[in-house]
Amino acid sequence: MIFIDTHAHIDDEQFEGERQAVIRRAEDAGVKKIINMSVSLANAQRVLQIASAEEIVFAGVGVHPEEIDGFDFHHIDELAHLTENEKVVAIGEIGLDYHFRDDNKEEQRKIFIAQLDLARQLHLPVSIHARDAHGDLMAILRREGKGVQGSIHCYSGSVEMAKELLHMGWFIGIDGPLTFKNAAKLPDVVKMLPLERLLLETDCPYLAPVPMRGKKNEPAFLPYIAAKIAEIKEIAPEEVALKTTENAEHLFFDKKL
Ligand code: NI
Repeated sequence: MIFIDTHAHIDDEQFEGERQAVIRRAEDAGVKKIINMSVSLANAQRVLQIASAEEIVFAGVGVHPEEIDGFDFHHIDELAHLTENEKVVAIGEIGLDYHFRDDNKEEQRKIFIAQLDLARQLHLPVSIHARDAHGDLMAILRREGKGVQGSIHCYSGSVEMAKELLHMGWFIGIDGPLTFKNAAKLPDVVKMLPLERLLLETDCPYLAPVPMRGKKNEPAFLPYIAAKIAEIKEIAPEEVALKTTENAEHLFFDKKL
């Protein structure tokens, strides 16, 4: 089986000293591409270094909502400049996070919208993070998301919200939490969504799937998420691998977009 990890952070310092081994283990597990998302401009430089050195690693460049302190709108031009690197396949990760901070919501929304605009201009897909901000996310995507493609990363919303995202043409990123006992509504979301709209991602080093839960997550663990999707949808894991890889190829690597 062949997989693509559509949202990873293998630049994380937790992988220091074993990054190459992690990438080799991913290849051994059938992972043929890893998209390493950035969280800030400074971090994007580091992510691009790794992507340049490792054939199977690609990059997203973007500013995460928790990293917007000191953001200036000329940083959008710097992001645009970074996308000239041939390993950049996405604007990400971007979005809204009101969990740890809700004192800068307006600023978060403005910076998110500016990055959606950038993605639209550059014809690049986005990887969107949303935590405790689903109402505002949907309001922004309805108004400002037209003409932008991408995925709602590590999906944690309701079945109803997933239905609307489906109709709007968004992909849904599925991570380790699907395998957790307290996965709540996520299995229902996976059951409802067509395989054509699902993407596999680890968000490593966080959120390792069962049976690796609690350990440091890595791209080689993607097959556990695929297996869980197969179990829920009562189909073969091979079909999940094939279709989600096709989806990722189409969204992030099809230059005809
Ligand atoms: Ni992430």
